[in-house]
Amino acid sequence: MADEYQMNDYFIVKAEEDGVNVIGMTRGAETKFNHLEKLDKGEIMIAQFTEHTAAVKIRGKATVHTKYGDISSE
Ligand code: TRP
Repeated sequence: MADEYQMNDYFIVKAEEDGVNVIGMTRGAETKFNHLEKLDKGEIMIAQFTEHTAAVKIRGKATVHTKYGDISSE
């Protein structure tokens, strides 16, 4: 399993304000929140998608960097 993740790309979330929520959502038949991470302004989170986490919802002002490009949320 560990080897699988070495193949996965990372994405980076940078908070542009205090209290940004990075919400991990489950993989599989049911889509639920499985992780809530709170970032304050200037903090970054570097993460991968895993067997548990298939999607991420970001609430608040942040910049997201992926191999597909960079995008801002508000
Ligand atoms: N326990 C989660 C997992 O292994 C941790 C995690 C990985 C996560 N990637 C994430 C949480 C992205 C939030 C966003 O799947």
